[in-house]
Amino acid sequence: MESPRGPGLFNRDQRHRPILSIERRLILSTLVVVGTQWGDEGKGKVVDLLTSRVRVVARFQGGNNAGHTLKVGGEQIIVHLIPSGILYPDTINVIGNGLVVDPAVLLQEKADLRRRGYFRQDDQLVISERAHVIMPYHKVIDLGREELLGNKKIGTTGRGIGPAYEDKAARVGIRMGDLTRPDHLRKRVDAALAEKNVLIEHLFKRPRPDANEILDQYVAYGEQLKPHITDIARILQEKLDAGVHILFEGAQGTLLDIDHGTYPYVTSSSVVAGNVCAGCGIGPMKLDQIWGAAKAYSTRVGAGGFPTELTDDLGERIRMTGAEFGATTGRPRRCGWLDLVVLNHSIRLNGLTGLVLTKLDVLTGISPLKIATAYELDGKIIERVPWDVNDLDRVVPIYKEFRGWDEPISECRSFDELPRNARHYVEAIEHITGVTCTLISVGPGREQSIIRESPF
Ligand code: GDP
Ligand code: IMO
Ligand code: MG
Repeated sequence: MESPRGPGLFNRDQRHRPILSIERRLILSTLVVVGTQWGDEGKGKVVDLLTSRVRVVARFQGGNNAGHTLKVGGEQIIVHLIPSGILYPDTINVIGNGLVVDPAVLLQEKADLRRRGYFRQDDQLVISERAHVIMPYHKVIDLGREELLGNKKIGTTGRGIGPAYEDKAARVGIRMGDLTRPDHLRKRVDAALAEKNVLIEHLFKRPRPDANEILDQYVAYGEQLKPHITDIARILQEKLDAGVHILFEGAQGTLLDIDHGTYPYVTSSSVVAGNVCAGCGIGPMKLDQIWGAAKAYSTRVGAGGFPTELTDDLGERIRMTGAEFGATTGRPRRCGWLDLVVLNHSIRLNGLTGLVLTKLDVLTGISPLKIATAYELDGKIIERVPWDVNDLDRVVPIYKEFRGWDEPISECRSFDELPRNARHYVEAIEHITGVTCTLISVGPGREQSIIRESPF
């Protein structure tokens, strides 16, 4: 094993000494980290950890439906919109054009981070002038629609994500750049409200939003956010040309992808690695490595199919041990066994070159452990995620069983230190998927990681 050369993994954060060892190092310039399941795989933790090696962290989709938890020196920080690289003072964090931004949430997040001693300089954050804005009426529509759906509701985060993306596609959206041009903004808001008012008043039976109030509020947001709003594609292109390392941070997970997820129980953006390019304005040849974060088991928050869900005491045990409660809404997450049909689906769709296996520590003390390797549907064995959620609801997972381990593993810092059965569990995942677990997370803390391959 070689110890880190050059700046240690945590050298740029004074609170931690470099304590991780790296088993293999690759020379790369860009890395994408996406979720492979239904979100909350620990992307934030991994992005924060890897940020010590990069100068730029960029988000390319989603909005404040995301909740990314970072844990440093016992302190917990949850970011929703600001990329997870924000704890490092000399890293530029990028909000790409592919996001939908709630300015109130962004300003609150900025203020909270400042209060806690982070995000001291404005140049730590740049926001695309082309990113779309979540308006108050988007939230009203999101919540109103869920209410009308009754027991068929998606279980959205209620943040207005879907309606904001709808407006983008309908070409009546408001963009971050519009917030800095009040006259223009008025025309855009009036045009959008012409339709929205009918929906809000007559379908959702809510009071009509006041256009003047919205304008005053959003012009004020524009003034406060102006120092951050810029052409992010140009910045990223310049950084790429200069060979600067860039980390692209996904939100949600592949099974929540608008195209490839368990539609209609999905979010409203394309969350797969392919969307990094459209969501940040860079060319497809610029992506070097794509890592997928996967929990060592599965969770889902919100409605929709979940073949390996455990609705018994064991599911409850995993929820409590893994603290499986939503970082955005606080809702209990549904828990179940690891599903390799789902994982293989994500590996193919994202072209994963590495797996980041998280929360392995949560499985300590559970034996036997089960992993789904295929489904049975109408007497046939299938190894693909059905496109129709009605079929997904009917599949019966076929499991392989593994012996568990009882030793606590949160202090392990190399693969060899893991108990034999934990190593077998990881190796089985690698064997069945054909993808290496480049990083294994054994606790929420930044340092509770086994780095087997460093991308930078
Ligand atoms: P994200 O949305 O993918 O960034 O994930 P979330 O932050 O929503 O949820 C992951 C949760 O698991 C957070 O509470 C993390 O602090 C925690 N976490 C991340 N990695 C590990 C790990 O390896 N072990 C344990 N026990 N917790 C972890
Ligand atoms: P991170 O980035 C887990 C889920 C919601 C709901 C569906 C649609 O923290 O992994 P939306 O508000 O996007 O229209 O809701 O998607 N969802 C998430 N679940 N983690 C997330 O983000 C999620 N973002 C959205 O619960 O089922
Ligand atoms: Mg989350």
